[in-house]
Amino acid sequence: MPTKTQHRKSQAPRLEPKTISLSHPDSLHPNSIHPGSLLSAADLSIDKVESILRLADVLEKEDALRRDKRLFKRRVSLLFYESSTRTRTSFELAAKALGADTSLVSAQSSSIEKGESLKDTGITLRALGAECIILRSPYSGAPYLLAETTGLPILNAGDGMHEHPSQALLDLRTILAHLEIGAKITETTLKGVTVTICGDIFHSRVARSNALLLPRLGARVVFCGPTPLLPEIAAQLGPNIVIERDFDRALAQSQIVMMLRIQAERLAGLALDLEEYKARYQANVDRVAAYAPKALVMHPGPMIRGLEITSEVADGRQSAIAEQVRNGVAIRMALIMRALGGDTKVSTKSRSVSPKKGASR
Ligand code: CP
Repeated sequence: MPTKTQHRKSQAPRLEPKTISLSHPDSLHPNSIHPGSLLSAADLSIDKVESILRLADVLEKEDALRRDKRLFKRRVSLLFYESSTRTRTSFELAAKALGADTSLVSAQSSSIEKGESLKDTGITLRALGAECIILRSPYSGAPYLLAETTGLPILNAGDGMHEHPSQALLDLRTILAHLEIGAKITETTLKGVTVTICGDIFHSRVARSNALLLPRLGARVVFCGPTPLLPEIAAQLGPNIVIERDFDRALAQSQIVMMLRIQAERLAGLALDLEEYKARYQANVDRVAAYAPKALVMHPGPMIRGLEITSEVADGRQSAIAEQVRNGVAIRMALIMRALGGDTKVSTKSRSVSPKKGASR
């Protein structure tokens, strides 16, 4: 005969173990790169360049109240492991101009400081609702890892010594505005244009992205600098790239001159004689007036005035440096729109590029 307690137990309903669903979004293992990503200038087809530039024109001119409904309340994360002024601010302004919410994560004030990995940081941002991550990293290739592990659209805002593709696009927009060139982007849009990139080519992601993009549109790229900052192998980066060690000779061939900073943070013990460097490679008034009086002078920033460029040249009539910075916002609005799948359809009319002061072919 069962006791009272035993009787109650035998009549209790049997509890089945609960099944836990493992197919929630955070358990995704994406591995494929989102098509809205921009990781390298090498991924930019002519059509893509054309459509980004055209969209940048439209967004720049659009009424601000209309524009900020385009990505209203969408979530964009800025993940910056390295310092930045231009890129970070312009991406943030671009996202906000489209109505998106932005959140900034920098290495110094986040759990990255405690050792959290890029992968875990990306997964965390995605779990918090990020729909796109803009990444600057000191590590070449980091944007690929983030793209593969999160499945989100990733915009490369500069990765180590590898690439800075949005800088190349804003540089292209700046160049086109100054050359009397038909508006359509084709393989010959920059035919007959020589662009000299001078300075620390070896460490420069800007040089690499420009050298991958500009020859695709027909430009000839001249790399110029001393051997420790410009190894011969750099000419093999792509077609239409040559090396010229003599800056005066390079200037004499050029419609566009891009000056680069010596990246002290990446020199790793390499000793340079800075006085000799200035004598041979500085863009100063005498040199520019003698060899390239009509060339457009560019610099991605940050500049070290008095080293690779003098203040007279940086602030002079041939300088397009402030325009480069301004063009960053329009280009980055277009990139964020594409990343978030916003309505990127714009008029099929050719882009209207009004020639400005400076460079002529
Ligand atoms: N051109 C550029 O990348 O500048 P910042 O480092 O200030 O973003």
